[in-house]
Amino acid sequence: MNDNLTLVDTARLVLHDREYDFPIITGTEGEVGIDIAQLRNKTGVITLDNGYGNTGACQSAVTFIDGEKGILQYRGYPIEILAEKSNFVEVCYLLIFGHLPNQDELDKFQFSLTHHSLIHEGMKKFYEGYPPSAHPMGILSSMVSSLSAFYPEADYNADIELNIVRMLAKLKTIAAFAYKKSVGQPYVYPRNDLSYSADILHMMFAVPSEPLEIPKVFEDALDKLLILHADHEQNCSTSTVRMVGSSEANLFASMSAGISALWGPLHGGANQEVIEMLEKIRADGGNYKKYIELAKSKDSKFKLMGFGHRVYKNFDPRAKILEIAAERVLNLLGIKDPLLEIAKNLEEIALKDPFFIERKLYPNVDFYSGIIYRAMGIPTNMFTVIFALGRLPGWIAHWKEMRETLGARINRPRQIYTGETKRHYIPLSDR
Ligand code: ACO
Repeated sequence: MNDNLTLVDTARLVLHDREYDFPIITGTEGEVGIDIAQLRNKTGVITLDNGYGNTGACQSAVTFIDGEKGILQYRGYPIEILAEKSNFVEVCYLLIFGHLPNQDELDKFQFSLTHHSLIHEGMKKFYEGYPPSAHPMGILSSMVSSLSAFYPEADYNADIELNIVRMLAKLKTIAAFAYKKSVGQPYVYPRNDLSYSADILHMMFAVPSEPLEIPKVFEDALDKLLILHADHEQNCSTSTVRMVGSSEANLFASMSAGISALWGPLHGGANQEVIEMLEKIRADGGNYKKYIELAKSKDSKFKLMGFGHRVYKNFDPRAKILEIAAERVLNLLGIKDPLLEIAKNLEEIALKDPFFIERKLYPNVDFYSGIIYRAMGIPTNMFTVIFALGRLPGWIAHWKEMRETLGARINRPRQIYTGETKRHYIPLSDR
């Protein structure tokens, strides 16, 4: 075989003077990966990749990101087009089933999402046990796991599509009830005549027997936010969903794990942290330059929350859309939020600073989303819950894709052991 051709088609590893060839896999957008599935079998060694920065855990047809160019596409559609032209339910369908629905498909999907949105009355009792201070993400994760008690058939992989619909339909009710619990108000039931986004806001902000008109600007803003959060390929929470699902754990258990992974401040929890950081800067006299210096200092643990991303080494396209959306929503509502001013100042100064330029740190999706949530009256501890509602179709799409992949294996990484070598056991009396 021509040596040049071999180099193109395979990657050659030289280890202890022996050569090994591994196939090269090229994705539809031209990204290249070395398939090392046979690495250990052939060589006896493994790869070590702290934080999985260079590890492709699967092949997936759901979402494409080019972090260098700032591109994000769901099933081939650019995020900018979907955020402008689509609605969240349509995007859910697209992510989960792989194509944009026609009118008939969309109507049926919408109908099933509204008609499965009640949760079992027995689940209301669980909420009663939580203290009012409970973080709604903890409640969300436990309630979603509890769904498996009410729909045990999920354990046997029966009715996967029905359980997917149940999951999507019920999460907004579960989320809104968690909010009602935290403010000590009675629960408001879902309404079938409202859009997915309007229904979330209605269940959160209405009181029983007094329907509330949800302003269109809120409904549209929330819908856009949900679309922008709907998927982001193999991020921490989605990889968690795939990890848990790879053991054939049921849909609800897998989604619950995703919610827990999302909660962390380095992931979806960052949206809450951003607003808390902006509030802190405002309370400190608005001296944002001081906080830029703190973020740069090796002696401080302070990070500019909502900045930086493992994959984007250019603008996060979602942050660009959200910055404009935040201004628009505030203008429409006639609100002047000093936190937006601080955020814009931080962004402006950071983007000119060599520290951030060299490390390619740009605002991410969480930097501006909180400003919009605040304008809608959503409390800070619910921000990550809204993120979870948005990310749910992405988690489901990946879980479903994995389940449908022939030959998918349980996910089980290896390690390089660094502990003690074999030791002799010393009886307690001799220690
Ligand atoms: N503020 C200040 N410095 C930062 C920041 C930040 N927000 N983010 C990264 N850096 C610095 C790091 O200190 C490091 O500097 P060094 O090379 O001198 O050591 C360098 O930039 C590279 O950062 P890493 O931590 O190695 O990047 P990684 O890819 O591991 O982490 C992450 C990405 C977790 C998003 C990180 O940028 C961060 O913590 N950002 C703040 C939290 C945040 O906004 N998370 C939301 C991400 S989007 C999402 O999950 C929805």
